[in-house]
Amino acid sequence: MELVKTIAELRGAVDDHRRAGRSIGLVPTMGFLHRGHLSLVVASASANDITVTTIFVNPLQFAPDEDLDAYPRDPEGDAEKAAAAGSDYLFLPEPAEMYPEESLTTVTVAALSAGYEGESRPTHFAGVSTVVAKLFNIVGPCRAYFGEKDYQQLMIVRRMARDLDFRVEVIGCPTCREADGLALSSRNKYLRDPERSAAPVLHRALEAGAHAIRGGEADPAKVRNLMAQMVREEPLARLDYVDVVDSRTLEPVAVCDESNRLIGAAYFGRARLIDNMAVRR
Ligand code: PAF
Repeated sequence: MELVKTIAELRGAVDDHRRAGRSIGLVPTMGFLHRGHLSLVVASASANDITVTTIFVNPLQFAPDEDLDAYPRDPEGDAEKAAAAGSDYLFLPEPAEMYPEESLTTVTVAALSAGYEGESRPTHFAGVSTVVAKLFNIVGPCRAYFGEKDYQQLMIVRRMARDLDFRVEVIGCPTCREADGLALSSRNKYLRDPERSAAPVLHRALEAGAHAIRGGEADPAKVRNLMAQMVREEPLARLDYVDVVDSRTLEPVAVCDESNRLIGAAYFGRARLIDNMAVRR
């Protein structure tokens, strides 16, 4: 695997591969790679000739009071893992390479970015869409792999690619979980032992909601209350939100059905964790 630090180098390399008729897969990450990220690299490597993994802890998507400086980093370990999973290039730019001067241009995917994560983190998705738009422009036509764990992000990036005619096929990959259901996330590192034991309650609550809908419950308020109650009963959890939404528009539904998505976020100590699940198995 080749380590690349500059935009010009990466562009040159992928352009050469494309000219030689090779397909390109892109896996954007913020590093501290876990099994979830590596499943994206494996998916890309199995469907494309060349896989580019990017690691960039994007300052634009962190609010001033968030964990930008504390965000876990392990570039050497990440390089080994990405190479072993089948990545051909690791793009590891410095912030000054991505943002040589204050960026005056921001990409916003309006309605999809407003609720849920967007409400709790008002500047987050503009930062995500902007950096992903830059990565799509740098890498050019490709398939790009994102985890379903960040479901709202996946919907936003997919819509952005369509609205702005990027020649990028956005591919969503299933959430990887621990044996007790906890979704893999770099932020799980912040959990102290008791919080780690408590954290799967979010997944269990979403499962209970999905089970209720599959059993015929059509009232979203009842499903919401059921899920919220379960999270609130866990003393180490502080609920942010749970809801039943349209799986494409992320609008809250008036009547539940099996095409819906269940989404939730909760704090466990200093870790704010999110999760989601399709109602249909
Ligand atoms: O999901 C992430 O790790 C980030 O939001 C992404 C997509 C790499 C953009 O910085």
